[in-house]
Amino acid sequence: MLILVTGGTGYIGSHTCVELLNNNHDVIIVDNLVNSQAGVVERIATITGKKPLFYQADATDDSVMDLIFSTHKPDGVIHFAGLKAVGESVEIPLMYYRNNLLSTMVLLDNCLKHGVSHFVFSSSATVYGDNQVPFLETMELRPRTNPYGETKAMCERILTDVAQVNPELSVTLLRYFNPVGAHKSGLIGEAPQGIPNNLMPYITQVAKGSLQELKVFGNDYPTPDGTGVRDYIHVVDLAEGHVAAVEQAAPGVHVYNLGTGKGTSVLELITAFEEANNLKIPYRITERRAGDIAECYADVSKAREELGWTAKRGVFEMCRDAWRFEQIYAAEV
Ligand code: NAD
Ligand code: UD1
Repeated sequence: MLILVTGGTGYIGSHTCVELLNNNHDVIIVDNLVNSQAGVVERIATITGKKPLFYQADATDDSVMDLIFSTHKPDGVIHFAGLKAVGESVEIPLMYYRNNLLSTMVLLDNCLKHGVSHFVFSSSATVYGDNQVPFLETMELRPRTNPYGETKAMCERILTDVAQVNPELSVTLLRYFNPVGAHKSGLIGEAPQGIPNNLMPYITQVAKGSLQELKVFGNDYPTPDGTGVRDYIHVVDLAEGHVAAVEQAAPGVHVYNLGTGKGTSVLELITAFEEANNLKIPYRITERRAGDIAECYADVSKAREELGWTAKRGVFEMCRDAWRFEQIYAAEV
């Protein structure tokens, strides 16, 4: 199949392009490079031996998208392009609503106009909010009160409503848990700008010495060691989940959790990182971070049963690959 991948030079998008190419699909990347670099296209080519077509373009630009759809006639779209920093979405909500909602609507419109029947959307476990773990696809959505989470729930709604009146359309909503790690080549991975907000990139920066110590946000949660529990998933497993989703797309709306089904605490992740990489991560317990929940992990049975997909890589591999990428990347910038 020919897949149009928006946000394809970003963290999850780039790994998905690699897996699509490795599985003999063709790829067109559309990315405006607001949070990634054009050099990623070359790296994808180095890893796979195949160079995807790349357009530096904005997915909210209807006329450009129309041109790309009519020129290439893709079989499906995977829509990763989006803004994702929770704190920034509280500061500049309109930018988040505009970018994340408009890009989804423009792409969907072009799918209908050009007869593209597969649409895969990057959603997030954040839509479950403070439901009881493990999170199940059938639960009522309770996006946390930040514009980023709201955009994910709203896009799910829009896609669902449109699919209901366009029965030929296949919409797959993939709810990611906590993607971490990097491709084993160390050529692509997560390279956040500035001080990272998320745990794994913060740990790798402490390991590198760019940041002095990790702040552990609270140890008084109702979890086994008091620190927050999350379902970390290796980004290559996540990418493989997308290949399964596009290959098995069927008319209608399909929602899948992409996680491992296992929770890991902050302290457990620190220990795993230290053991995997044979180094020490200095840390200090601090106050809870506003908006955090105690536990977040998936029920993954639906993806296993319907897509035949399960995450294969463990926390050790996630830590090893994240650190390998940080070292290679840091040596280059
Ligand atoms: P990322 O920032 O690395 O990748 C997103 C890419 O989209 C970037 O390359 C950026 O330049 C591009 N982009 C943004 N707006 C665009 C636009 N209007 N037009 C064209 N390109 C645009 O983020 P990621 O971690 O790879 O996340 C990919 C998707 O998955 C996002 O939609 C994100 O919300 C979602 N998601 C991510 C996580 C996570 O923890 N990383 C968790 C759940 C869901
Ligand atoms: C964050 C986002 C969430 C998004 C998810 C994507 C917030 C409030 N939530 O969630 O919307 O869907 O990323 O992956 O930003 N931690 C520390 N010290 C740190 C960083 C994190 O102790 O420096 C802890 C957190 O309290 C949490 C765990 O590590 O318990 C994981 O944090 P993080 O990587 O930010 O992910 P989420 O909290 O799941």
